[in-house]
Amino acid sequence: MLNLSKEELVFLVQNYYDAFIVAVFAISVTFFISKVCRRGSDHIPGRLGLPFIGETFSFLRATNSTKGCYDFIRCRRQWYGKWFKTRIFGKIHVFVPSTEGAKTIFTNDFANFNKGYVKSMADAVGDKSLLCVPHESHKRIRRLLSDPFSMNSLSKFVKTFDKMLSERLKELEESGKSFSVLDFSMKITFDAMCNMLMSITEDSLLRQIEKDCTAVSDAMLSIPIMIPGTRYYRGIKARRRLIEGFRAMISRRRNGEESCEDFLQSMLARDPYPENEKLSDSEIMDNLLTLIIAGQTTTAAAMMWSVKYLDENTEAQQRLREEQLSITRNKSDGASLALEDVNRMSYGLKVVKETLRMSNVLLWFPRVALNDCTIEGFEIKKGWHVDIDATCIHFDPDLYKDPEQFNPSRFDEMQKPYSFIPFGSGARTCLGMNMAKVTMLIFLHRLTSGYKWTVDDQDPSLEKKTHIPRLSSGCPISLTPLNNGM
Ligand code: HEM
Repeated sequence: MLNLSKEELVFLVQNYYDAFIVAVFAISVTFFISKVCRRGSDHIPGRLGLPFIGETFSFLRATNSTKGCYDFIRCRRQWYGKWFKTRIFGKIHVFVPSTEGAKTIFTNDFANFNKGYVKSMADAVGDKSLLCVPHESHKRIRRLLSDPFSMNSLSKFVKTFDKMLSERLKELEESGKSFSVLDFSMKITFDAMCNMLMSITEDSLLRQIEKDCTAVSDAMLSIPIMIPGTRYYRGIKARRRLIEGFRAMISRRRNGEESCEDFLQSMLARDPYPENEKLSDSEIMDNLLTLIIAGQTTTAAAMMWSVKYLDENTEAQQRLREEQLSITRNKSDGASLALEDVNRMSYGLKVVKETLRMSNVLLWFPRVALNDCTIEGFEIKKGWHVDIDATCIHFDPDLYKDPEQFNPSRFDEMQKPYSFIPFGSGARTCLGMNMAKVTMLIFLHRLTSGYKWTVDDQDPSLEKKTHIPRLSSGCPISLTPLNNGM
């Protein structure tokens, strides 16, 4: 410490007054500038790293691990708090963790935010797909596609899916073999959807279409360079085969060589309508492909998680079984389920909701800011990616008590707005939401009212290299028939 007398202090201040003022001024200016800069691009904490590369490698490392890609986000929340930003593949991303933030984005979809345009996606599913078209076309295409997916239109689907499911479960029970719920669900959701959309039932054709749809789906987020052997190349080739098949089918239907009661037929029935009341052939074909791809993996993953959660929560399983058996008792032996039966599955619906809350089949919903804006006071720059983090919202302890607990009865109470968003919200709400719920309910009905099961591999590891969380084991189970009740 300096030990100065009063005279020495006065001497110092008199002689170094100017320097003292300059120093105080310089420190204040530096402090002010740093504050302004923080308010600007750095107001949201996080690490952007090197240009373009940013934290891409950490993201890929998480995606390639058995903890799943959400681990990347979980870690950063621990380091920086709920709001953070990062840079992945050259783009700045902000993961939006709150109902307020979700509301801001959902209610301004298309006006202030849009899905990021990805060339490979438009090339793969087609530029007339709901996932790629601009606002005006989106509104029209969505309106014209919606009717077959309304709850009332799903009666035929309920019967067909129930029959298909009952037969396949019976075969598996009789074989006595353990089977992967994920593989089973992938196949049956695909077959049921192709039946509902285009009345395709022949197994070899279904498997060829499934292979091609998987190739298209893999190409959606690949590097769009047409080099043989790449994912993009395989996806584009597969798309061409699929479109060729769809085109031939449309032509057979128009020539009267083939007639069915299905989604495609309902679209073609609009042929005599004015332009804005019907879809063009490209719009029909691109959206057939979109519906299959958007519907299969999501629903199948959710079905797999429902089995896993019910296995771990036997009380909920038993309560569900009782509800489903009461529905069976009111029907004649071997009768198929009807839509009215599905509508009576009130506890079943809560199991479906709780499964969707916890499994977060789509972890977050990506958007790009079209203008500079603020979300909950946080400054977002034009071009930044804002990802509605449904997973964070679904596990928020302020919204869900004991969020890690599988508790279907929590849905006895009304949810707060934007706190339950497994199907998104607003203009882009999932088009297949009713179909997905009905599929899961029928599956849970047949499983719990007909069987008990054991999970043959309890490994909790997640499948690597996927953005949809799924158990790497696929959740293998063995079935035991219930035999007339319990
Ligand atoms: C459990 C199953 C499902 C889940 C969790 C799910 C979830 C979602 C979510 C969250 C969105 C909105 C994404 C966003 O806002 O960016 C969405 C959109 C969409 N989903 Fe689903 N989905 C499921 C099943 C289905 C099924 C079965 C179909 C079709 C048969 C389907 C077709 C679509 C389509 C076409 C869109 C785009 C809608 C648009 O942009 O207007 N989904 N889905």
